Amino acid sequence: ASNISSIKAFAESNGASLIPSNYHSFTEPHHIIDDVADEFAASIPVIDFSLLTSDDPQIHDNHVHQLAKACAQWGFFMLINHGIPESLMEELMKKSQEFNDLPMEEKKEFSEKDEALSPIRLGTSFHPPKENVHYWRDFLKVITSPHFNFPHKPPGYREVAFQYSRKINVVARKLIEGISESLGLESNSIIESTGFDSGLQIMAVNFYPPCPQPHLALGLPPHSDLGFFTFLFQNGIGGLQIKHEGKWVNVDPLPNSLLVNIGDQLEVVSNGRYASVLHRAILNNKDTRISFVVVNGPAKDKEIGPAPQLLDKEKPVFKSIKYQDYFMLQQNSRLSERSLDQIRFS
Ligand code: SIN
Ligand code: FE2
Repeated sequence: ASNISSIKAFAESNGASLIPSNYHSFTEPHHIIDDVADEFAASIPVIDFSLLTSDDPQIHDNHVHQLAKACAQWGFFMLINHGIPESLMEELMKKSQEFNDLPMEEKKEFSEKDEALSPIRLGTSFHPPKENVHYWRDFLKVITSPHFNFPHKPPGYREVAFQYSRKINVVARKLIEGISESLGLESNSIIESTGFDSGLQIMAVNFYPPCPQPHLALGLPPHSDLGFFTFLFQNGIGGLQIKHEGKWVNVDPLPNSLLVNIGDQLEVVSNGRYASVLHRAILNNKDTRISFVVVNGPAKDKEIGPAPQLLDKEKPVFKSIKYQDYFMLQQNSRLSERSLDQIRFS
């Protein structure tokens, strides 16, 4: 296991040009050995939320169709015109930066717990006890729905996070309605079957300090996310890559967009029609990258399986499992490419 409890503190005190060998994800620089396909970057789907939610049935249907295509072909899209004020997102990022800059002493109270479902948790890498290789990341993870938790420092962080949390819940609910329709279900079908309105929402703030050997380590390894969707925005510094047609694609977000990726529970509910996208975080040696992530998922105690309406014509691809149990299974293991393989019918 790693004995580093803060990458930031380690990076600042180390001053060395080498990273510890148990932070090496690669033996050769990944930008040389990996297939990066930036020709795909321009075709990342863009979904206009204001048109998806239009009262005009034709505009709405057209955008439900575009949503279906984005989910089936990419599992990833940029959401524009989502209605969340730019100033709120800027403030949230500013407070996240301030949180990161607090002295360790001030943050200690959040780093004591190592329980996947503890309300507030500050940690490093993904799950150090289970890893052979660690990741160059510090994170703050908070359960923000159905009950809202958040650090009370720096002043104002909690308030702005609350506003953002509730606005994301509204956006996620509309997207789930669109997804339901796109699968040929009633618009409230997934909301009801998964207990969405008392669903678990997790916020994760990722801090990736400058890394002296950015091409030998990773901020996060290839993985798919829990839940229905992940919403992400960042402090203007790139590092997210998604896997598309077997190649890595660098994501360069449109201004004021939210990056949305499909999570495992949507792959389950759609019985595999919409695959959760593999993604990873790469590093740089200049600036601290911060990404602010929100994951919206089912209620903890709901059994999640393929939607029964889809099973008239198809065999179930996944076993049903309580969301909470899947959550623990993913969070308490090594962050591996596909936690979903553990509930797939073989
Ligand atoms: C994540 O996968 O949760 C974060 C990826 C990123 O920081 O871009
Ligand atoms: Fe992720």
